[in-house]
Amino acid sequence: MSALPASAAVGVIGAGTMGAGIAQVAAQAGHPVLLYDAAEGAAERGRAGIKAALDRRVAKGRLAAADADAVLARIALAGRPEDLAPARLVIEAVVERLDVKQAVLGRVEAAAGDEIILASNTSSLSITAIAAGLRRPRRLVGMHFFNPAPVMELVEVVSGAATDPGVAATVHATAAAWGKAPVHARSTPGFIVNRVARPFYAEALRVVQEGAADPATVDAVMTECGGFRMGPFALMDLIGHDVNYAVTASVFAAFHHDRRYAPSLVQKELVEAGWLGRKSGRGFYSYAEGASAPPPATAPAAPPPGAVVVHGATPLDERIAASGLAPDRAAGDGAIRVDGVLLRPSDGRMATEVAAAQGCADVAVYDLALDMAGARRIAVAVAEQSAPGTAAKAAGFFQGLGLDVSPVADTPGLIVTRTVAALANEAAEAVLHGVATPADIDLAMTKGVNYPRGPLAWAEEIGLAKLLAVLENLFAATRDERYRPSLLLRRKALGGTRFHG
Ligand code: NAI
Repeated sequence: MSALPASAAVGVIGAGTMGAGIAQVAAQAGHPVLLYDAAEGAAERGRAGIKAALDRRVAKGRLAAADADAVLARIALAGRPEDLAPARLVIEAVVERLDVKQAVLGRVEAAAGDEIILASNTSSLSITAIAAGLRRPRRLVGMHFFNPAPVMELVEVVSGAATDPGVAATVHATAAAWGKAPVHARSTPGFIVNRVARPFYAEALRVVQEGAADPATVDAVMTECGGFRMGPFALMDLIGHDVNYAVTASVFAAFHHDRRYAPSLVQKELVEAGWLGRKSGRGFYSYAEGASAPPPATAPAAPPPGAVVVHGATPLDERIAASGLAPDRAAGDGAIRVDGVLLRPSDGRMATEVAAAQGCADVAVYDLALDMAGARRIAVAVAEQSAPGTAAKAAGFFQGLGLDVSPVADTPGLIVTRTVAALANEAAEAVLHGVATPADIDLAMTKGVNYPRGPLAWAEEIGLAKLLAVLENLFAATRDERYRPSLLLRRKALGGTRFHG
């Protein structure tokens, strides 16, 4: 299916944050744009905002002044929804209310010919439900841009029950022609990104709720070890807790309160306190004048290790080789013994459970890294029954490998391990339910929320059988539905097949 030609007019309803951004994108791609907003003066303000954005690009030398003028000249303001009828594609970005969206799209539809394509930028309403209020439901598709629309590449092209596949294909091709990275998604709660990303926040909130680590430590581990651009707490503070909590609550409700998506009481309390994040000057962190970022928990320098024995291949091998440490080698399943302390990568069990199973008290588990050779920090937990000095021995070993050590309480799956397992599990569940393909889910998560790797590709790199074991161990330890392994992940892990060809 081919893209709409640049000569085809594009209508945009709603000239707020998203509508103005979308109008700019379409105009930059060469389309004549008709911009309509119901509020007095809002369309003019939207156009003025676009002009300011283009001027900034001109000032930075990224756009020629003549091109900026041409983009702006392509954006005409419309006085009524009916005025958008000549457009080939009309995208609505009005308030997030089903009745309002249906009413305004209905007015465009009534004035337009059969072939007009209607699109909604909704982030939480069902495309199927919006379409049900229209005369030609097959002509409606979701076109979910991310904020800021001119910058963010991802566009989720969302098909409802009635959406004509040809309409979705045309919108997909058109978004690609606009320089975007479109993905196909089926209209299900949260589509791809707002669903698959839930565990990124939920696991971090859980770690803090359990008292296993504080927000600064979680953020440091997620960025310096997990390779995420931003830690979950810094990101929630940026998004705003009211917005982030509302998205979680809406996904939870839309899934008929499946406990897997349950919102966090920790976040709810912030919302109740009005500590909404950066915008209110306080969230998990303070943004008051002169406030400094709290430091992550970091173990003090400990003596270097004496006897180190590495049993088989471990995630630390490259680092050990680079450190100049010359440990004894023995056969085994990836354990390391440091002066009598047993170190293992997290498999979703608490260090205490590992110690109990192995009949060995002095046990420490360490977290998953995106790239262990390049990591700067590692989260480490020691078993309840371990002798005093166990944590220091573990810390001395990791410090010798050039890693800062964040001691965390003995929680299953530490910080990165449980987060990546839960993200991949949610992605697998979305594939199982036909929401999107594995390739589109991974693309959506790297483009839409900047994850360093798509969750399914990451899962394959870890090994699906290992990942399944992490989830099963987390589930066994917590009996929490959020770790219920997806049937598809189980099939692929046990069957030895892959998500990506
Ligand atoms: P906004 O509040 O900045 O803009 C909404 C605009 O719609 C306002 O200018 C308002 O006057 C106008 N409007 C309201 N009712 C109207 C009607 N009946 N006809 C014409 N115009 C009408 O909101 P924002 O943030 O741009 O969101 C718009 C839509 O985009 C919502 O559906 C939202 O869920 C979705 N969205 C928002 C994102 C964000 O980060 N803000 C990201 C992705 C989607």
